[in-house]
Amino acid sequence: MAPDALNPVLRPLTPFMRIVFLGPPGSGKGTQAERLQDYLHVAHLSTGEALRRAVTANTALGREADRFMKLGHLVPDDVVFGVVAERIVDKDCIPGCLFDGFPRTVPQAEAFDRLLIERRTPLDLVIALDATEPVLTERLLSRGRPDDKPDTIRERFRQYAEQTEPLLDYYRERGILRQIGAEGTPDEVFERIRATLGRVTS
Ligand code: AP5
Repeated sequence: MAPDALNPVLRPLTPFMRIVFLGPPGSGKGTQAERLQDYLHVAHLSTGEALRRAVTANTALGREADRFMKLGHLVPDDVVFGVVAERIVDKDCIPGCLFDGFPRTVPQAEAFDRLLIERRTPLDLVIALDATEPVLTERLLSRGRPDDKPDTIRERFRQYAEQTEPLLDYYRERGILRQIGAEGTPDEVFERIRATLGRVTS
């Protein structure tokens, strides 16, 4: 596939928006995706949240995912992809969807591309958030989710560097990556995202 086959042109800002949030643990993907969801009125799919719900509900998928999540490892691609493929066909996802924490491996991104091409719903934009590790670690330690323990956080950063960072080049080559500094208050970061959307669509 030609690098820009998915997205020859960044389309004008319309309700028909598909945006991926990339970024290391604690960079604010969830926080900012929720704000952007309210702003754009599109659906929000967090694979982390979907997996945590499955863990709480003690479904077969949840039990499988839990084995990986509690160690700070990524859940296998086919398991996560099943969650996304099921959700993306929901009525509220048709006009647009914010993908928070997915894809996060190259095989996930390739499978996602195939699915989006099949559905004729290209990605509009990939927003990559970033901040320094000490800032991110402090945020996670003060949140205190079960996977926010020091050893697990370190492993999550390791997994990010190894498996997810290559996606920056993957989407840069497609011309749809925008990198945004994630330090500062949530309001400041959101303003940067809004300004970026404005530049992309003007
Ligand atoms: P997931 O829930 O996606 O975890 P993560 O990527 O590690 O990200 P976090 O939720 O920790 O951080 P975030 O960037 O969303 O930041 P947030 O807004 O929450 O995934 C959990 C696990 O599920 C993974 O480890 C993996 O096992 C599995 N998984 C999920 N998706 C997968 C996939 N595609 N493939 C395979 N496995 C997958 O903010 C963090 C904290 O900081 C909050 O307390 C927030 O209030 C605070 N905060 C946010 N912004 C700011 C700010 N600007 N200033 C101060 N505090 C801030």
